[in-house]
Amino acid sequence: MSEFHSTIKTIEWIREGKLGGFSRMIDQTLIPWEYKKVDIKTTEDIYNAIKTMIVRGAPAIGIAGAHGAAICAIELLRENKENFVEELKKGIDYINSSRPTAVNLSWALNEQLKVIEKYNTKEEIVENLILNAIRLENEDIEINKRIGDYGAQIIPKGATILTHCNAGALATVGYGTALGVVRSAYAKDNTIQVFADETRPRQQGAKITTFELVQDKIPTTLITDGMCSYFMSKKMIDVVVVGADRIAANGDTANKIGTYTVAIAAKYHNVPFYIAAPKSTIDMSIKDGSQIPIELRDEEEVTTINGKRICAEGVKVINPSFDVTPNELIAGIITEEGIFKPNELHKLFS
Ligand code: MRU
Repeated sequence: MSEFHSTIKTIEWIREGKLGGFSRMIDQTLIPWEYKKVDIKTTEDIYNAIKTMIVRGAPAIGIAGAHGAAICAIELLRENKENFVEELKKGIDYINSSRPTAVNLSWALNEQLKVIEKYNTKEEIVENLILNAIRLENEDIEINKRIGDYGAQIIPKGATILTHCNAGALATVGYGTALGVVRSAYAKDNTIQVFADETRPRQQGAKITTFELVQDKIPTTLITDGMCSYFMSKKMIDVVVVGADRIAANGDTANKIGTYTVAIAAKYHNVPFYIAAPKSTIDMSIKDGSQIPIELRDEEEVTTINGKRICAEGVKVINPSFDVTPNELIAGIITEEGIFKPNELHKLFS
């Protein structure tokens, strides 16, 4: 086994003095075969790390963005650029274009833009972008622990919890959102267990969720995506808890492709379906899920498994990375400030 445990930071700022440093992150494309950290020191590399999913999961992508803004500013300071702020804003836009669905990326970059507006000299901007990135990084873990504590309240004694994709420590800086709920619930009641969906095409459930939970010794059963209705019909699932990439003002929620199918099955079988996500995943600027941009990824993710082609050459492929679960299928949204019905999200922002 690797040295991973859920209190290790998935992504961490490494300081090099007041005006330097870089982002160190666990390379999630290698899990579960290899556990390796990579150091990211340029704007281009941050963009690529997000796009190629070295770092993935909405909150972790957000922190990568915050680190990226600091890295971009450090680069520009080193190059002694004349039009520093203009170039920095271009760099931020570039990082923001790496993946479209998780709103945490633009949220974190906006937090960094506020810093840029507040300070005057290049040095002050660099120093405060670094400090703000570290603040956001540390807050993420605290937020997830609060989500975990609220969420644990809705987990019945001895429950089997179904989750989809990976909304764990590796999708955040640490602890996780949906898996944060699992961790907090397990700390109170070690008779609970998890069913983890494999999550095709990239298999984050099989590769990453089982990696995390087995190391935490939380009893976990891996199932393939098509199996959830079967287990619900056998009354083997008590509750569903998943993460989110973007929640619209009306509670419609984008999460990993296949989540919508799980939610429909849960409704049919009267299994409560919960979202666990920080406030930074809620996008009050959009009315409903139809406005959430859905990332289309490379067809190779569908045509191959671990590099080996699994279908006929010439077949057509389409690969949306996320789907939107309508609010009426969601029993509650577990945040760091409590659990809300989808139509109550405005209370979090008033
Ligand atoms: O494509 P990914 O692996 O970045 O998608 C991740 C998910 O869909 C997660 O469920 C979501 O980001 C929540 S992570 C706490």
